[in-house]
Amino acid sequence: MARFEPHPSRRPAVVTGASSGIGAATATALAMAGHPVALGARRAERCEELAATIRAGGGEAFAHPLDVADGDSVKAFAQAAAENLGAVEVVVSSAGDLHAQRLDELDSDDFAAQVQVHLVGAHRLVSAFAPGMVARRRGDIVFVSSDVVRSPRTRMGAYVAAKSGVEGMARQMQMELEGTGVRASLVRPGPTSTGMGMNWDAETTGKVLEEWVKWGHARHPYFLRPSDVAAAVAAVVGMPRGAHLTLVEVQPEAPLEER
Ligand SMILES: NC(=O)c1ccc[n+]([C@@H]2O[C@H](COP(=O)([O-])OP(=O)(O)OC[C@H]3O[C@@H](n4cnc5c(N)ncnc54)[C@H](OP(=O)(O)O)[C@@H]3O)[C@@H](O)[C@H]2O)c1
Repeated sequence: MARFEPHPSRRPAVVTGASSGIGAATATALAMAGHPVALGARRAERCEELAATIRAGGGEAFAHPLDVADGDSVKAFAQAAAENLGAVEVVVSSAGDLHAQRLDELDSDDFAAQVQVHLVGAHRLVSAFAPGMVARRRGDIVFVSSDVVRSPRTRMGAYVAAKSGVEGMARQMQMELEGTGVRASLVRPGPTSTGMGMNWDAETTGKVLEEWVKWGHARHPYFLRPSDVAAAVAAVVGMPRGAHLTLVEVQPEAPLEER
């Protein structure tokens, strides 16, 4: 006899940060894998455009405004997702932003704002969706973390602290959820070409890249594409029940060289 029921055929998924980058690519990948998807971000019109594209391709998608830094917004998003798609089986936490400043220069309110989005925002999703999953005895919650947790990068102190908190929270959830059928997982991308960092001025970008070289981070020039990270998220969510990809780190392959 199978130890676990297989995944249900219909697995509605919510993706935060779905207006851009990794979140948008993940919503697309999950829709292509057959999940009905709820897309959330502050730029709801961009989510709606992507949802319309998914629907035009034969998928099921729904968009709703979402600010993960606002508890009421998360509750409204969660309610709308369940009303439109049914009980949520998969949550992907990808919303985030990044301000490139040294910790000694960073205002504590700005530090707190980044923790609000990355860490408290992720926990708001847990509060909204995990109890239903535990009651149904199945579900996937995927946190998009960052390789900065393993190897911090300068000028990203609040981000490093927040993502370290996300990984600590996810590891603890893996213990607390053991035996419930609910899998909490981490996908930890390396450098990825997205909207992140695109709003920095040229001087800031130059300094960040100089320091990456100084600290040995810029080993080669290739970045991941958002679809690469989305493929990792889809693999985590697509694992058969009874097995759990607890942490997947994704790095860009280096350019091929002569041997
Ligand atoms: N790019 C990288 O190199 C890299 C590496 C490791 C990890 N990551 C992680 O990957 C995740 C996605 O980032 P990305 O690289 O894809 O960057 P991106 O293209 O800038 O996307 C960030 C997304 O987060 C959303 N967002 C920001 N603040 C939000 C809020 N308060 N409420 C709801 N949504 C919010 C943005 O949408 P709105 O502005 O419309 O709200 C956008 O959709 C982040 O968690 C990031 O830390 C990125």
